Amino acid sequence: MDEKEVLMQVKDLSVTYETRLGPVSAVDSVSFDIFRGEILGLVGESGCGKSTMGKALMRMIQPPGWISGGQLIFEGEDIMAYNEDQMRDFRGRKISMIFQDPMTSLNPVQRVDEHIVEAIQVHEPKTAIENALERAKILMQRLGIQKRRINSYPHQLSGGMRQRVMVGLGLVLNANLIVADEATTSLDVIVEAKLADQLKEIRDEFGVTLLVITHNIALVAELSDRVAVMYAGHVVELGPVEEIFDHPLHPYTQGLLQSVPNIKLDEREELYKMGGEPPNLTHPPSGCRFHPRCPVAMSICEQNEPAFQEVVPGRFVKCWLYQDHPDKETPTIEVAE
Ligand SMILES: Nc1ncnc2c1ncn2[C@@H]1O[C@H](COP(=O)(O)OP(=O)(O)O)[C@@H](O)[C@H]1O
Ligand SMILES: [Mg+2]
Repeated sequence: MDEKEVLMQVKDLSVTYETRLGPVSAVDSVSFDIFRGEILGLVGESGCGKSTMGKALMRMIQPPGWISGGQLIFEGEDIMAYNEDQMRDFRGRKISMIFQDPMTSLNPVQRVDEHIVEAIQVHEPKTAIENALERAKILMQRLGIQKRRINSYPHQLSGGMRQRVMVGLGLVLNANLIVADEATTSLDVIVEAKLADQLKEIRDEFGVTLLVITHNIALVAELSDRVAVMYAGHVVELGPVEEIFDHPLHPYTQGLLQSVPNIKLDEREELYKMGGEPPNLTHPPSGCRFHPRCPVAMSICEQNEPAFQEVVPGRFVKCWLYQDHPDKETPTIEVAE
């Protein structure tokens, strides 16, 4: 990708769930851009807010949760200002989402072709059924689903095929952004790798933008152009995938990469187990939410939240190590370009 056109801007997005134990701040004032045509990986430990973020982008947060702040700008339009009718059209036509278990989104008594025809007719009511069916067939073939499979029911397909049907449901309406939340997680390793390859091909062929949400860092390394690392409701680091893997800046990213076998290529390094537990988001830690687990925490980290800043062109990090502050004794850590 040479020129980077912004498809979606996420600005100060916050999502809160109201629970018996108090409000849970699952996404806390997060800002980032999604570029048209990119594959952006969103990684982080379970419970850090990845799915919440994915659903929030489509305004699909259900009670007891709500979007408690921020803006979502899609192709220059503020979708937070859309009414329910506009949102219904927007979902599917502009953004579609695929989940870990496609059976929850597919209707068990509807055939593959019927799903696709219905999607077309809901959003484009004037389309004749024969035309919709023809489009469904062409698309399924391009996604590698054989002709004879198009009359199948979801349970007759393999997991990988079902996920491709879900991708097809997004593509048939020319969705610009597909959010895939752990879409490959329930597949076995070989099928997962194949689906990852296919997602790349689909991106190249259809020019679609993908937000791939996963806890699988190896998959992100393989698939993404850029990666966003989430910790406790914050995006703590964002940048091009090779740069982050070669030279992670945030201490959390550093720990995360060291804890994955075969990712850190330096074999002398021992597999690292990050100390401590992910925080309880009902009472998140003060200052930087990572400070209680951070091996290089300073006193400021406990007191003040660092900003999410671009420290090298294209690389963003939310960490006091890379920002000036009053009790800083050592110069800012050098960042390799
Ligand atoms: N429906 C809900 N009600 C209350 N809390 C929720 C709900 N969904 C998610 N959460 C909380 O929000 C946080 C983020 O969850 P989630 O977005 O599912 O994380 P991830 O996808 O990274 O595992 C967690 O602390 C989780 O307990
Ligand atoms: Mg999740």
